[in-house]
Amino acid sequence: MSSDTPRGWSPQSWQQHAAVQQPEYPDRATLERALGELALLPPLVTSWEVNNLRALLAQAQEGRCFVLQGGDCAESFADCESGLIANRLKVLLQMSLVLVHGLRRKVVRIGRFAGQYAKPRSTDTETRDGLTLPSYRGDLINAPEFTPQARAADPLRLLEGHKRSALTMNFTRGLIDGGFADLHHPEYWDLDWVHHAPLAEQYRQRVEAIGESLRFMETLAGQTIGDFNRVDFYTSHEALLLCAEAAQTRRVPRQPGWYNLSTHFPWIGMRTAALDGAHVEYCRGIRNPMGVKVGPGMSAQWLRQLCEVLNPDNEPGRLTLIHRMGAARIESALPPLIEAVRAGGHRVLWLCDPMHGNTQTLASGVKTRAFADILTEVERAFAVHAQCGSRLGGVHLELTGEDVTECLGGARDLSETDLARAYRSAVDPRLNYEQALELALRIVSIRGAAGGAAD
Ligand code: PEP
Ligand code: CO
Repeated sequence: MSSDTPRGWSPQSWQQHAAVQQPEYPDRATLERALGELALLPPLVTSWEVNNLRALLAQAQEGRCFVLQGGDCAESFADCESGLIANRLKVLLQMSLVLVHGLRRKVVRIGRFAGQYAKPRSTDTETRDGLTLPSYRGDLINAPEFTPQARAADPLRLLEGHKRSALTMNFTRGLIDGGFADLHHPEYWDLDWVHHAPLAEQYRQRVEAIGESLRFMETLAGQTIGDFNRVDFYTSHEALLLCAEAAQTRRVPRQPGWYNLSTHFPWIGMRTAALDGAHVEYCRGIRNPMGVKVGPGMSAQWLRQLCEVLNPDNEPGRLTLIHRMGAARIESALPPLIEAVRAGGHRVLWLCDPMHGNTQTLASGVKTRAFADILTEVERAFAVHAQCGSRLGGVHLELTGEDVTECLGGARDLSETDLARAYRSAVDPRLNYEQALELALRIVSIRGAAGGAAD
């Protein structure tokens, strides 16, 4: 293997390590054919974009930009639909506009979409009325219905996932390049609800202030500022199903190393972050910037070793640590980890995922999250980083552009009984559009209260 590849690594070297959270494919021949086709199809992203994102994440590490990463917990094939995609893009654009204006900083937008189709599960099988079947692992792998046919891992879903990711990317790119994200026209990304939401006024004031600043700058410059006509959008998903990730891992002309060209920013989930495990082995060899979820169960030593393995050259922008401690535990669990990373001299970007440590199951069996806990975790994350002389570089959220009722609280104070109205997630509960925008507005006021946006 040439010197631009870490020692002992190849796109398939993960197969020599323990790979948790992988399905059993009954039909191996079709699996091999599907993977072969996946390896030849045009990729979803390019190495240029991947390198650009790495450079932006390096800037975020230095506090020069703020990262907004958000989208569904799990995409479904059925949700690959123009209205849902456009609304999700709208809410992310609105949030980023609030953050840019309030934090006085560039915002790097990373969607949890165009490939977020595989989910880790707590058990490999599920039993109902004496029948045991494989767990549903996301649309990339099998279907949720409780029948042997639906639950069998189907290799053709890999190709369907690639197709739907490409459709999502194509539509998103078309909207953005066509002018949808033009700061001169924030009305393009108005959602109907904006006019009657409790926070509408606050949002409108920020939009107006931005319009005024833009007109002022353009008057000074004597021309339209083209940079504001479009924004960059990047994609991410959990790099979970390793045979599919490996099939889309390629060399490209004139760039050293291997790139995962199915997404700009893959991340390793909490359940697959074992140091000697297959996911870490796969990720250490690719050139993409990557994230690792960090929960309260992670020791300082484990985290330091992950930094050493995943970023041995201490390359800026390469490694993002996404902590997801829960509001109640962040103040005790995070400081030793920040200290360990600093003591090891590792350059990382820290993001806060305030969703996965705050999930609760109601007596009715419904999974939810309280907006207040989510907000508290973000507030505490800023404070803990400041106390430790570190910096929180962004947030990682599960959200949708729809009027769902999955998380409790927020400006409309959704209650347990409200959840039944529009609970649509098959997996984790997401912030709805209003709660998502409210969180962005609150982040801006937390930073304002902490004594100024730019640190
Ligand atoms: C997720 O991001 O949907 C997820 C499963 O997170 P974690 O790995 O942090 O539990
Ligand atoms: Co989730």
